[in-house]
Amino acid sequence: MEQSKAMVDRCVSLGLDPNRIPKHVAIIMDGNGRWAKDRGESRVFGHMHGVDSVRSAIEGAMELGVRYLTLYAFSTENWNRPKEEVDALMNLLVDTLLREVKELSDKGVRLRTIGDVASLPSSCQEQLALAEKSTENETNLDLILALSYSSKWEMVEAIRKMIASGIRSEEINPEVISENLSTHGIPDPELMIRTSGEHRISNFLLWQMAYTEFHFTSVLWPDFRKENFYEAMHDFQHRERRFGGLADTNHNVQIQ
Ligand code: IPE
Ligand code: IPE
Ligand code: MG
Repeated sequence: MEQSKAMVDRCVSLGLDPNRIPKHVAIIMDGNGRWAKDRGESRVFGHMHGVDSVRSAIEGAMELGVRYLTLYAFSTENWNRPKEEVDALMNLLVDTLLREVKELSDKGVRLRTIGDVASLPSSCQEQLALAEKSTENETNLDLILALSYSSKWEMVEAIRKMIASGIRSEEINPEVISENLSTHGIPDPELMIRTSGEHRISNFLLWQMAYTEFHFTSVLWPDFRKENFYEAMHDFQHRERRFGGLADTNHNVQIQ
C-alpha cells in the first residue's frame, strides 16, 4: 500500500521524512526473561507481557507506512530452553493468534511465517495455517513471524532445494539464492532493531541483512512501545547508507 495522507502527516508530526520510511523493519524481541526476573516473576510472565509490545510495534509500523514487519519470535536454538518455557511460549502463540486474528484482519494485516514451522506442535501449526489463510488478502502490512527460525537452517534448506531442482553451478547467483530462501519476494530489511542491550544477530536473516542498518536499544522487549519504534526510525533516518559506494552516488550502487 502507498503511504496514506494520514501516514505522511504522522511522519511529519514526529519529525520524520515520509519518503525515507523503511519498507521492511525486522525486530529481535529480546529481554523478556530479564524483565520478569527484575520483578521476581517467572520468565513466562515476561513473554506474556511481550505480547503488548508486539501490538505496539505493529501499530507503530502501520502508522508510518512500513510495509513489512518481521518479528523474531522463536529461534532454532530456543528449542534448547527448558520444556516448560518452550511449552508456555507455544501456548502463548496459539492463544494470541486465536484472540488477535480478527483484529489483524480488520486492520489489513497479512500474517506470514518463516522458519521450520513443521517442527512446531500441531495445535500451533493449525492456528498459524488458519490465521495465514484468513488474512491472505490483506495488503496494509505483512507481519512475518520467524518461528523455529535460524538463518543457518534457512540456508541449508535453500541449498537442498537448489540441488533437488537440478540447478547447475553456473546458474547460481545472489538472486537465485534469495529466491530459494523463505523470504523470497520480500524486500531485504532496511532496519533491524534489537532490544535488551545485546549487540548480536543470533542467527537472524544473515543473508538478508547484508546492508541493513542496526538499531540497538537497552529497553527490554516487554517495555517496548511505539515511542521506541519512532526513536529507531529517527536513528535510521540519520544514517548515511552507502552500499559500498560513495555517499552521493549510493542510489546507483547495485548490491551483489
Ligand atoms: C526473548 O526474550 C524471547 C525469546 C527468545 C523467545 P528472552 O527469553 O531471550 O529474554 P532474556 O534475553 O533471557 O532476558
Ligand atoms: C534471539 O534471542 C531469538 C529471539 C528473540 C527469538 P535469544 O535470547 O535467544 O538470543 P541470545 O541467546 O541472547 O543470542
Ligand atoms: Mg534473550
